[in-house]
Amino acid sequence: MKKVVLNDIAVSLGVSKALVSMVLNHQGDKNGISKATQERVWLKAKELNYIPNHIARGLRLGKSMMIGLIVPDIANIFFSRIARIIEDIANKAGYNLIISSSDENIERELQLIRKFTERQVDGLIVASTQSTKAEFVQLKNDGFPIVLIDRSLNINDIDYIGVDNTEGSFHAVNHLIKEGFRKIALLKPGPAHLRNLRDREAGYRKALKNSGIRINERIIREIPFTNLDTKAEDELDELMKLGIDAIFAINNRLAVSTLQFARKRNINIPEQLGLITFDDLDLFEIGHPTVSAVSQPVNQIAEAAANKLLDILRLDRSVKSAQHFLLSTKFIPRESSVYVSQNAEMLSEVL
Ligand code: RIB
Repeated sequence: MKKVVLNDIAVSLGVSKALVSMVLNHQGDKNGISKATQERVWLKAKELNYIPNHIARGLRLGKSMMIGLIVPDIANIFFSRIARIIEDIANKAGYNLIISSSDENIERELQLIRKFTERQVDGLIVASTQSTKAEFVQLKNDGFPIVLIDRSLNINDIDYIGVDNTEGSFHAVNHLIKEGFRKIALLKPGPAHLRNLRDREAGYRKALKNSGIRINERIIREIPFTNLDTKAEDELDELMKLGIDAIFAINNRLAVSTLQFARKRNINIPEQLGLITFDDLDLFEIGHPTVSAVSQPVNQIAEAAANKLLDILRLDRSVKSAQHFLLSTKFIPRESSVYVSQNAEMLSEVL
């Protein structure tokens, strides 16, 4: 069947091809075309089953009306919530969103950036797994619209939206200390170079130091992103043998792994083991016990990132200097971090 083109609609309605193009590109009002004529064009396009060629249009207008989003793992609720909000804002502005996961793999992230830019996305939002800045600095120097979220690469002239990870962790660990916990382990996901996770560890260390609690490197454990679940169980078994009394899991996945471990080993939270996490999930407030969490302003992060990129696109390569937003987190104390005094008798001075 012959592909329907703009001219077929124009001939069928007795109007110019230019008029049809303006209407189907949502430029009718701007060019003074009556609502009735616009309606006739849309109806005829539907009747003839006209399918616009976005690639050709993109080449002609220099815009694909597509935005790319790269995150470490779209299956992680933190990122899927962000993606959904960005998608809604982008759609309202006439853009579509394409999403890919880097799996915390630098090579894959670079490959995705190349694929997205080759496919003419108009702009990118990235929660980068990078430890290097080169790729992003090059994109910026080429005038490509880009906004970074969640992981700061400290590139001054690229917009970044994240949270104050150190402060958020500091307050959370302070809460555990004030409750009475003293042997607080840290569980962190690899790769170790991720700036936001390093800042969370810094907040943990700062809280212990401020309270005069010796930092024991043996109870700070890194779990590789790739086999989080299996590795977490081994590490947690070892930590329990070392007589810890609480765990600070610095992302939602590790908190869930800790809950699964506790259930499997019949360890009561918080009676035998306190738990706090960075990142809040719905299940943390409905489970038993409810889990104390550092909540990130996910909506604000997503809205700020989407609107910032759209501003850049509207301004056609923003001339304004880039901005870095460090939003505040909120610690939500729940059942998992209540100190139960009998812990004190149970703990042996193993460390
Ligand atoms: O796994 C999700 C975590 O990693 C979140 O804390 C988010 O900050 C991301 O970096």
